[in-house]
Amino acid sequence: MEIQEFGTVRMFPLGLSRDAREYSCQRLNQILADTQILYALYKKHHWMMRGPTFYQLHLLLDKHAGEQLELVDEMAERVQTLGGVAVGDPRHVAEMTVIPRPPNGVEEVPAMLSRLVESHETILIAAHDAASRTAEMGDDGTNDLLVSSVIRTNELQSWFLIEHLVDTPLVERHES
Ligand SMILES: [Fe+2]
Repeated sequence: MEIQEFGTVRMFPLGLSRDAREYSCQRLNQILADTQILYALYKKHHWMMRGPTFYQLHLLLDKHAGEQLELVDEMAERVQTLGGVAVGDPRHVAEMTVIPRPPNGVEEVPAMLSRLVESHETILIAAHDAASRTAEMGDDGTNDLLVSSVIRTNELQSWFLIEHLVDTPLVERHES
């Protein structure tokens, strides 16, 4: 038997309106679901990685996965701090996420990296919008978490991936 339904908030005396806390929890839960999927995508691609830069990418993707897992915990605990219910079960996460499902097999390396970059951008667009709207509603703590942790981490990780997607002139020069 449930003692608190998903999507509801308890009355916590935090100096924030119920509306603000409900709104923040809703936005955080969506980004939390997408971040749990991005974490899983990072682990999948950490395992599937191949090619001449295998070792470097294998390590990089695991580092990013670990950092995403920290964001998952921070966002889930922010939802609980606001009196809400964090999305936790992977099957619930799968129902909520807007990040496209990858094939069960292995894609080309640039396709795997592009898939991660696109997932970051989906999360960044949502986080920018949620950050400004939660601030407008007075929830500075959620704004700070989204700006200082979620946006900054996703931007930095995107940079590291995007640099790997630049054409490899060494290979092309050998071919011409
Ligand atoms: Fe590993």
